[in-house]
Amino acid sequence: MPKLLSLSRAARLAGVSRGELQKRIREEDLQTFEGELTVDLLLRLYPHIDLEADPMLEKIRRIRAEAKPKIHHSDGWMPDPGILMTRLKEFQHVLVQTKSALNSSDALLEETLGDLNAALDSPEDQLRNNILACITKLKRAMQRVERAEDARAALFAKDIMLKIVSASIRLLPSGHEFFLEGSDSILEAGLKAGLYIDYGCSSGNCGACKCKVVSGAVRKLRNHDFVLSGREQEEGYILACSNTAISDLVIEAREAGAEEALPHQKIRATVRKIEPVGESLALLQVQTPRTQSLRFKAGQSVSITAENGSCAELFIASCPCDGRNLQFLVARKQGDVFSDALFSSAIVRQTLVLEGPEGGFVLRDDSSTPAVFLAKGTGFAPIKSLVEQAITIDNSEALRLIQVGGNPPGSVLDNLCRSWSDCLDNFVYCAPAEDCSATELVQLLLQATAGLHRFDLYIAGPREWLAAVTAEAGPKGFDTASWYCQAAG
Ligand code: FES
Repeated sequence: MPKLLSLSRAARLAGVSRGELQKRIREEDLQTFEGELTVDLLLRLYPHIDLEADPMLEKIRRIRAEAKPKIHHSDGWMPDPGILMTRLKEFQHVLVQTKSALNSSDALLEETLGDLNAALDSPEDQLRNNILACITKLKRAMQRVERAEDARAALFAKDIMLKIVSASIRLLPSGHEFFLEGSDSILEAGLKAGLYIDYGCSSGNCGACKCKVVSGAVRKLRNHDFVLSGREQEEGYILACSNTAISDLVIEAREAGAEEALPHQKIRATVRKIEPVGESLALLQVQTPRTQSLRFKAGQSVSITAENGSCAELFIASCPCDGRNLQFLVARKQGDVFSDALFSSAIVRQTLVLEGPEGGFVLRDDSSTPAVFLAKGTGFAPIKSLVEQAITIDNSEALRLIQVGGNPPGSVLDNLCRSWSDCLDNFVYCAPAEDCSATELVQLLLQATAGLHRFDLYIAGPREWLAAVTAEAGPKGFDTASWYCQAAG
């Protein structure tokens, strides 16, 4: 186990979010080493490492369930995954005891050496008695060693277990770190972690995801059409979309930074579903071809052209971690050709042309500051994408969401927000009525931000509503000039 743990690894070992761990470190004014912390510091914060009640082990159970059919089709020499997991858990307990005994033995050896050196300095007539006292002390200590089980050893064993089910990947030069689980490709795992790794087709054709393995071992998931030269292969280049990690990895990979624009793309996508959300909104779900995903940042928009020639500029309402299955929130507008076609379901299974992405209403994803989100109407589309990205990167110590109208209460979107609030300890959701005034809304904002010394605020909705809320919030002490605002709908 390394002496220094990255924040992600430490949070996972403690079974808490990165945001929660960062908050504890800041609150207790503890010192880290360039973002890494020592095992002792982690144990000071979380002295009782619980090997059983661990969200990661839940994940392991899920991976095991997913793996079952694949392993059943293997050569037959592998034990059933259930049996394998049981044996691994037994092995984990043996590991804790063995490591504890080793830790105690190390300490005992050092102590005995000190005692013997002290005995050597004693006068000749007391030498024998002092050495006998050392031997008695040693015997007693050795009996204790056999029963020893310490927190460091538990942490060590847990780290080994986590390494068996997930590999840790560090990207250079950014230093971003994420975990790869199951049989995901390196690219899939990076996208699921909310990173903007360069890619194009995600199927081994374009070479855009080419990256260099600095350390660690990878395994090819599939053959790919894109050809890496002999020299590139010798230098350790691989395709992130076609390889998985079989050990912890350090790789050099290109990523789009917060300020950098993603390439302009033109992609055809098929309408999969149109789901009404109350009377005046609909959730449009489209899917791109297998070989073409849309790269975008949470909070961005695309222009969409339907087969009947009608167009719309829409914010993407889904997470950038899935560039194939995209969601949009469309408002009912009488006389608007695109909206009419959508609400009459005339465009189901039709092909849409997506162009973009556009826009700079994106998440400050390097910040651990609490984030507050405020949305109304179709403004919930970019806010939903930002919230999903914030949950994915797990950086923020607190998330607050106010969705005016709830879109509407009991709808699929309202239920989604309530499920976030149920599942995440650091997430608070509130859905005031559609006709909530700016004054009432600012009161809610004051309540939502009470106790937060600083926070990033993202607000999206109709232009007049934005103006009314910011005009009301300024005199109440909010620094509205620092708010991230987006007019929508
Ligand atoms: S994304 Fe195209 S080859 Fe990997």
